[in-house]
Amino acid sequence: MGDHHHVSSKSILKFSDLREQFDETGQPGAPKPPPIVGKHHLGVLAEMIEIVERQWRTNVRRGLIKGFFLVGPPGTGKTTLAKRLAYELGLKRREVSGGSSVVMALIDGAEIARSRYGESEERILDLFAHARAGFTAADQRSVVLFDDVESIFMARGSQHAKEWHFSQDSVFFHAVDDLDTSRSVLVLTSNRPDLVDEAIRDRFLTYHIDYPDRDTLIEIAMSLATLQQFSPAQCSLLEQRLDDAITCGAVRSMRDVQRFVVQHYIADVLGRPSLAQTHSTPPADLTP
Ligand SMILES: Nc1ncnc2c1ncn2[C@@H]1O[C@H](COP(=O)(O)OP(=O)(O)OP(=O)(O)O)[C@@H](O)[C@H]1O
Ligand SMILES: [Mg+2]
Repeated sequence: MGDHHHVSSKSILKFSDLREQFDETGQPGAPKPPPIVGKHHLGVLAEMIEIVERQWRTNVRRGLIKGFFLVGPPGTGKTTLAKRLAYELGLKRREVSGGSSVVMALIDGAEIARSRYGESEERILDLFAHARAGFTAADQRSVVLFDDVESIFMARGSQHAKEWHFSQDSVFFHAVDDLDTSRSVLVLTSNRPDLVDEAIRDRFLTYHIDYPDRDTLIEIAMSLATLQQFSPAQCSLLEQRLDDAITCGAVRSMRDVQRFVVQHYIADVLGRPSLAQTHSTPPADLTP
């Protein structure tokens, strides 16, 4: 108990870590993080919270829902939604039990992938054993996030698939089917669902997390600008330019908006043109 040398401790987010990211009340005078915005995002979040909260409260070990599969283009808030789910569940459980008994385990390829045959499977089994027993304390609830799951489990039909992945996938399926839903929930994210095994997809409730609409993008920009103390004139200039950038398709995701605001922060608020690149695409190959 308490030793989880098979899941690295930097992969475990405690409630206090999540609170630091999301707490909107904060210390008096402290800057507030931008709230989750977007009608669809908030609807999905509310639905996930309701499902998990009920499964945890009713103590049904074999609940109908093992978890969620969040699918959508890059930068649209999938990882953020999963973390927010863990935070909200932690808040609710504190009301019930007083303690902060929810953690998030953040699993990526590096946590699972091992070159020696059979070792990855062991790590998967170990992970689920920790979910059952509690990651850092007994009687602990957990949200286990398989982030960018296509890089962990690839489709058996895909050209990348190797013998190796078959056995990982099937170990994963069985672990999912055995998951104790009265204490854990899984969240998978991907922007390449075509690379994810159908048998994995079928085990989860799928939600499409798409690019938000114009109003939502502008709302995010304005909340970031307020946080960074743009003047009213700087805000309206930003809004106008963002509107154009959305129209021509240069800004589509939440991450695009953040990058756009940073550019304008440097150009308009600090008052100098930025030398940083404006796109997320890697620069042309500079190697000789
Ligand atoms: N609903 C939201 N409201 C405001 N900001 C958001 C929201 N969702 C995400 N963000 C911000 O947008 C950025 C991108 O979000 P996130 O990393 O969750 O996207 P993602 O879909 O997981 O991307 P990827 O597919 O590349 O992993 C984050 O910095 C986050 O703070
Ligand atoms: Mg992500």
